[in-house]
Order: sequence, then C-alpha cells, then structure tokens
Amino acid sequence: MPLVNTTEMFKKAYDGGYAIGAFNVNNMEIVQGIVEACKANNSPVILQCSSSARKYAHPLYVVKMVEAAVEETGLPIALHLDHGPDFETCKSCIDSGFTSVMIDGSHHDFETNIEVTRKVVEYAHERGITVEGELGQLAGVEDEVSVSAEKAQYTDPDQVVEFAERTGVDSLAIAIGTSHGAFKFKPGQKPQLRFDILEEVSRKLPGFPIVLHGASSVMPEYVEMIRQFGGSMDDAIGIPEDMLRQAAALAVCKINVDSDLRIAFTAAIRKHLAENPTHFDPRQLLTPSRDAITAVVAHKIQTVLGSANRV
Ligand code: G3H
Ligand code: 13P
Ligand code: ZN
Repeated sequence: MPLVNTTEMFKKAYDGGYAIGAFNVNNMEIVQGIVEACKANNSPVILQCSSSARKYAHPLYVVKMVEAAVEETGLPIALHLDHGPDFETCKSCIDSGFTSVMIDGSHHDFETNIEVTRKVVEYAHERGITVEGELGQLAGVEDEVSVSAEKAQYTDPDQVVEFAERTGVDSLAIAIGTSHGAFKFKPGQKPQLRFDILEEVSRKLPGFPIVLHGASSVMPEYVEMIRQFGGSMDDAIGIPEDMLRQAAALAVCKINVDSDLRIAFTAAIRKHLAENPTHFDPRQLLTPSRDAITAVVAHKIQTVLGSANRV
C-alpha cells in the first residue's frame, strides 16, 4: 500500500468513535519507533513533520524515511505537514510527496485565514491531497513561535460552518484549552478542556473530522526518569488521558503528539548514559530511545486513541 491521504482513515475513525494518532517525526529512530508500535497493534497512523523539523532532517530524507516505513510495514500511513505557515511551504510538501498538509492560518484574521486556506485546498485537492485548517489559537510554542496563554483564543463555534464551506478543508483543528509543549497548565491549576465548544462545533458540522493539537499527556514515568537521571522538568503537566479518550469518542479524529515523544526519547538517553558512562556508540544510546518511542505510541494506541486493529 502506498502513502495514503487522511480521507479514509478519518471516515472510519469518526464512524468508529476513535482517533488516529498524529506523531511528529524528525529522525530515523522516531519514525521506526512509531511504526513498530503501529505494526504490533495493527493501527493506521499519521506521521507529521513541522517545517522546522523538515529543515532539520532535510525534505528529501523525511519523505524517503516515511516511504521506507510504508514499504516495511504495509500499514496505511499518511505523511502530513504540521503547522504549514504559508502556501509556498504547503505546495513544496505536496510537490515532494506529502499526502496531507495543514495550513495554519489561525494567527491571521478570519478573512485572511479563509483566503490562504482556500488557496492551499485548491492546489491540494487537484492532486488528491487532504488539507487541515485551524480556527482559534492554542497557547504554547510551535516552530519557535510562542503564543502566551493570555493571547490564546478558543475557537468560536459560530465561525466553523462558514470556514469549512468557504475553504473546502477536509478537517479542522480547534482550540478548546489544549496547548503545545510540556507545561500546559499553571502549577496548581486544574486541567480543563472546553468540551462544550467541541460538542457545539460537531453539532454544526456533523460528520466532520476535528483535530486536537497540543494533546500530549506528559507521561509521569518519563518526567520522573528525567528527574532521576539529572534533568529537570518541574511543573510539567499535560492533558489527562481520560479527557483525550472522551475527545476521541466524539468528533476528534486526529490527536497530535510530539512532546510525549520528545520527553521519552530524552529520558531514555539520560538513563542509558547515567547507567553506562563509558558508552559512546550512538546505536547504544539511541536503541533505548527508539524503544521508549515504541512504548509511548503503543500506550497511546491502546489506552487513548482506540486505533488498534483498525487497519
Ligand atoms: O506543534 C508543534 C510541534 O510540536 C512541532 O514543533 O516546530 O519545534 O518541530 P517544532
Ligand atoms: P504536544 O506539544 O502536546 O505534543 O502537541 C503537538 C502538536 O500539536 C503538534 O502539532
Ligand atoms: Zn500543533
């Protein structure tokens, strides 16, 4: 099976009340770690790459690594651009083999967001590529751009129908209180999501796939491992898993996870180096990290997403 777009996987996820994991990739071990878990659980998956990660890994390497994963696993895999900043970047990804792109016009005013999203949709749909748009703004850091919690904005449900109709997007990312990074709530603050907004959006757009960004749960075992082996992630706090499960059972068809992978990858390296101070072979350092990625993704598939055995 070649790389797929997200149409079929989102339709099945919506109807089945589960979500597809969209995991950020930027090197070979992360790609391998993710697909190993998907293979073991017979799960479809979205491998997504931000424009800065694409620059880091080189555009050609990203496509070739993901194509290798498709060939090796035979799974339905979509290669998706995460937070596409403009038309040119989306076009470049589509032209180089991505099967899905996000155009993130959420920082623009409503009309400009529609205009740039519509332009990407026209180019993408002529080539069989699916497009994710965004309405509302999450707090946190993405692609080195930081949005403060005060500036973040919940999605306005009154805008979603017009946005979907005028742009033709295939899925919509909304802001309901999640945020990017490992520090999603202030210390002592009770994690809360605006499920009322999610429900209102899905009433207005029945059957339409919704996307949740900033959905890492900041798994305590890896935060503890980082602390135990000389690092510090004090006050890291993520989205509780029961809330993610609730979202996946509703209209959310795509759940984005990056920070949880980063934390596990780093924790495993710290542990390995602390326990094996004489090691200097990168393969010895990165094997535990790759295994940690597999463990995180398997956990997500089984206990958060519900995407096991959905191929
Ligand atoms: O939402 C953003 C992702 O976590 C990607 O982050 O731009 O640092 O690769 P990045
Ligand atoms: P996290 O930082 O919660 O992993 O979110 C990742 C994300 O939304 C990528 O687009
Ligand atoms: Zn995001």
